[in-house]
Amino acid sequence: MKIQIINGPNLNLLGVREPGIYGSSSFESFLAELRRQYPDITIEYFQSNVEGEMIDRMQQTGFDSDGIILNAGAYTHTSVALHDCIRAIKSPVVEVHISNVHQREEFRHHSMISSACRGVICGFGLDSYRLALEALIKAG
Ligand code: DQA
Repeated sequence: MKIQIINGPNLNLLGVREPGIYGSSSFESFLAELRRQYPDITIEYFQSNVEGEMIDRMQQTGFDSDGIILNAGAYTHTSVALHDCIRAIKSPVVEVHISNVHQREEFRHHSMISSACRGVICGFGLDSYRLALEALIKAG
């Protein structure tokens, strides 16, 4: 199985950025552990602060991967272009958030992409990504 993880803006700062909300572990160290836990799954990783680069990556991987785990960061709440992209590709997309966006500011309560995604997982810290991976494995 080949799974693509895509992280959006400011998620390169995990471990440094607002640790009270996002935790103190870097994504790289979490990813190394995830790969150790799932040795039979090819987990590819891409991060960009640029909306168009995220779309390019989704188009490149969204026809031959078995699933995309997408944390679109703040673009979650604004991006019609990401919504359209998710609908345009073939691979199922799981929307993830580290924090429980529904316990936070009102502007984080609405997602532009949820309705185009296979499912949504939020609020479990970095474990949200592993839960999304489990969901994609079960979905086959
Ligand atoms: C986030 C939640 C978003 O509202 C925020 O803009 C992020 C991170 C999360 O993982 O909790 O950058 O997607």
